[in-house]
Amino acid sequence: MRIEVRNGRLIDPARGMDEPRDLFLAEGKVAAEAPPGRLDRSLQADRVIDAKGRWVVPGLIDLHVHLREPGEEYKETIDSGLRAAAAGGFTAVACMPNTTPPNDDRSVTERILRQAGRVRGARVYPVAAITVGREGKHLTEFGDLLEAGAVGFSDDGHCLADAGLFRRALEYARSFDALLLQHAQEPRLTVDALAHEGTRATRLGLRGWPRVAEEAIVARDLLLAGYLDARYHVQHVSSAGTVELIRAAKARGIRVTAEVTPHHLWLTDAAVEDYDTNAKVNPPLREEHDRAALRDALRDGTIDCIATDHAPHSVLEKKIEFDRAAFGIVGLETALPLGLKLVRDRVLTPLRLFETLSTAPARVLHVPGGRLAVGDPADLTVVDPERPHRIDPDAFVSLGRNTPFAGYEVPGRAVATVVGGEVVFELS
Ligand code: DOR
Repeated sequence: MRIEVRNGRLIDPARGMDEPRDLFLAEGKVAAEAPPGRLDRSLQADRVIDAKGRWVVPGLIDLHVHLREPGEEYKETIDSGLRAAAAGGFTAVACMPNTTPPNDDRSVTERILRQAGRVRGARVYPVAAITVGREGKHLTEFGDLLEAGAVGFSDDGHCLADAGLFRRALEYARSFDALLLQHAQEPRLTVDALAHEGTRATRLGLRGWPRVAEEAIVARDLLLAGYLDARYHVQHVSSAGTVELIRAAKARGIRVTAEVTPHHLWLTDAAVEDYDTNAKVNPPLREEHDRAALRDALRDGTIDCIATDHAPHSVLEKKIEFDRAAFGIVGLETALPLGLKLVRDRVLTPLRLFETLSTAPARVLHVPGGRLAVGDPADLTVVDPERPHRIDPDAFVSLGRNTPFAGYEVPGRAVATVVGGEVVFELS
């Protein structure tokens, strides 16, 4: 399929570009680019996407998604998850290994890729487990998993708390120039923890989850990553103290990157006030000053990426007592609308928003995409920044409905998503 994307505002952070441009896509790549109406007349498109009044951006890349397959297909499948991603404007997602069985073996990685190959939706980049069974005891076969298609390693959902093993994992990963992604949660500081440790949790009778549970692990990991000169990525940063640690480490040249979720950018622990299980998440929503620090960090580059931590659960795990409910919030179909709200509120510029949602995740994961110059993959998203609507979980493509953002007014959304030169989502 040869596609002309006409009359759009091209926002391409990798080139610092924000101006009207026409694009011509052919053979899965960006084949030509020109000011409006100036594409070479000999280029014949099979179809034209009129992007007048819209933004054309490099396809969004989410480096933290739970697809639940294999094992929990009643929550999400590779098919529903990758179609939900496309509907949210994502052209690629990295999927976490906490499935059943976990992705700790190349047969699971290969299965995920095979299954994803049949879906008309976003691409998938499997993240494999650091340890066998995500049990924190024995390292997985990094070389084998990378060869099978894994793009990095995490025990997400669990923290790799053993310092000795984490050191070995960093050394092992470094030998492949592979990325380790840490779910930073000191288990001994979060036994039975349910909500951010503070006056609200005390009043609600919920056992507290202190910031230091995250910060203690990140501080230790940063020292180890610096000592070993290894790449290290902090998943779902939630606290102002973690931001400070990352800022200082980056200033010292430590090879650290970090992500923040839309829910930590938008909400505080006030969201759990009515024991709303849709706001029960790991790590927990914190206080106003944490939220402000996360926004500042995203703006100044201390935090590199927005990642959703899309964690679908069914009503069986969510419409129950708070202490028994599962942790997690879905994010694939709300991240871009909430990001556009950050732009509207002047927290981020459009260039910075799409840097955090596309260019930076591609750089962190060492995957293609994140840029729309001639020769780059034809992975792009057409965004209507002026399509106000109310978030409605019943309209999600995802099987997960667990969001605390139901009813939120948002300014716009993705209206078309193109992966490898094929339109995989279009708003009718
Ligand atoms: O809230 C969360 N849910 N945080 C995680 O780290 C894991 C995730 C899940 O798998 O449900």
